[in-house]
Amino acid sequence: MTMVPDIAPLLFFDSGIGGLSVLKAAQAALLCAPIVFAADYAGLPYGTKTEAEISARVPALLGRLVERHQPRLVIIACNTACTIALGHVRAALNVPVVGTVPAIKPAAESSQTGVIGLLGTAATVRQVYVDELQADHAPHMRLLRHAAPELVRAAEAKMRGEFVNPAIYARAMAGLIEQPFGERLDVTVLGCTHFPLVEEELLAAAPHMRFVDGAAGIARRICHLTKDQNWPEKPADGVFVTTGEVSALGSLLPALFSLGMTQITSL
Ligand code: DGL
Repeated sequence: MTMVPDIAPLLFFDSGIGGLSVLKAAQAALLCAPIVFAADYAGLPYGTKTEAEISARVPALLGRLVERHQPRLVIIACNTACTIALGHVRAALNVPVVGTVPAIKPAAESSQTGVIGLLGTAATVRQVYVDELQADHAPHMRLLRHAAPELVRAAEAKMRGEFVNPAIYARAMAGLIEQPFGERLDVTVLGCTHFPLVEEELLAAAPHMRFVDGAAGIARRICHLTKDQNWPEKPADGVFVTTGEVSALGSLLPALFSLGMTQITSL
């Protein structure tokens, strides 16, 4: 078995800052894990891209990131990238890859009514991968799907400290609740990693709703896959990589610093 160096990081990847919702759960479980967080700002948003674009873009970027940062594990903290390109990424990389897919299983387990919702990007909600998750984990339930690209922009704006019109959150929830059977909806899957960052606002728009996401499950999976590995004794400075301009990050920096990402670079 090859020894993993203590300083080998966990490499998180998303189109933007959505993956921070996954990173936070992992950091809480692994305090000293060295972190590289890569945001593909040059490609944001993924939700409006085609399957072919995502399947070409994500493995190529991750190949460069892995070469540069030599991570012990790659975590694709993006439902859109995973439901489309997880297989391509695994085939292209020689490090283990943890994916993020809509948390339909825990949602199905906790629904009292048998009607569950899925908020995701347009690209995610139309995936066969989602049909398969439903068939495997919620075969006798009704799954209402709604694409809410506005929430990606809202989460990005919130993390930059900008004002977001609350009507955006109400509109996203109405997209589910106003569908047939929507009045029985009790659990909604936040099937885009940007959405847990605005969970409070979504809850204000639909106070009776329970929201689930995959972050805690991913953190457990990371712990499991690294359980025999060593970590540095003290937390190191985290690295934030953007595929866009570093100067465009401006108002995002306080949020990144608060999560320990003090080295900011571009790919
Ligand atoms: N955060 C991403 C996801 O989990 C996608 C957001 C986007 O780029 O559209 O799906």
